[in-house]
Amino acid sequence: MTEAFDLDWLDLREPFDALARNEALAARFLARLPARPRLLDLGAGTGSLFRWLAPRIGRAQAWTLVDADREMAEAAFDTVADRAEAVGLRVTFPSRRCLLVHAPGGAWRVEALVADLAEAPDNLPLHEADAVVNSALCDLVSRPWIERMAAALRVPFYAALCVDGRDRFSPPHPADAAVAQGFRRDQRRDKGFGGSALGAAAADAIAQAFRARGFSVESAASDWVARGRGAPHGLPFDAAPFLSRLVAGRASAALAGPFRDARRVAAWSEVRGGQIGRGVLQTRIGHRDVLALPAEG
Ligand SMILES: C[S@@+](CC[C@H](N)C(=O)[O-])C[C@H]1O[C@@H](n2cnc3c(N)ncnc32)[C@H](O)[C@@H]1O
Repeated sequence: MTEAFDLDWLDLREPFDALARNEALAARFLARLPARPRLLDLGAGTGSLFRWLAPRIGRAQAWTLVDADREMAEAAFDTVADRAEAVGLRVTFPSRRCLLVHAPGGAWRVEALVADLAEAPDNLPLHEADAVVNSALCDLVSRPWIERMAAALRVPFYAALCVDGRDRFSPPHPADAAVAQGFRRDQRRDKGFGGSALGAAAADAIAQAFRARGFSVESAASDWVARGRGAPHGLPFDAAPFLSRLVAGRASAALAGPFRDARRVAAWSEVRGGQIGRGVLQTRIGHRDVLALPAEG
């Protein structure tokens, strides 16, 4: 049973993901890629990580976007094509399963693979990949899943945006701790990857599993930061819709647990909603990007 994600939420979070991703760690990852890298993106959604990394790679490259959700895979093709054309890049479709973005440094080839990652890595074309990447996936998977992946890989593993539990809402509210506790419990719920989801333990679990297989592992903070109304960091988008979804998601996760106190959670949501409307809510949601590199040579 795979966890469903809606397209609107992925769309809302994409600019915050883009701001959060750790540039220095990504640069160290990109330095290990070959001339025309082939990347396997696990749980790719609509291709948010592709849109961020492909221009940084900046040369001919091939991506396989893996997702269990067929609708998501179709939306990925549409979104990749639309966003590329919006910035003036030509897009062609050599086949129904493949698109090419004709960028100045070389073509970016994108294919979709609909597959249930619960069965990974057995059902993945690892022999065709120079790197395995993912974003906002590893906090959903289980420890045995990460250990299987570490045992199977001989190429870099780049896991972006793993939640780490360092969440701050400001101004503080008396129910913050209770909501956070309910949310963290929900994050550990089995998401269909053969055991409890790693949640905030994801970065440490990746480090342990890959170091045990001889990889060097480093990680760096990649926190979401959203504040007030209007454009954060001078960018032309409004944080309010993102913050509203963030608050609603926390509240419903908190209500799903066994110790729920519906009135307290409702009061928290109402106060937070008012603060979003007045543009005074600030949040920092802790994430880590993790890079595991095999020994060179
Ligand atoms: C939090 S979203 C992240 C999407 C994308 N990587 C991004 O950063 O926007 C998690 C993605 O994993 C996919 N997913 C969840 N469980 C899966 C499974 N068992 N097999 C394949 N994909 C899965 C979901 O469909 C969703 O697209």
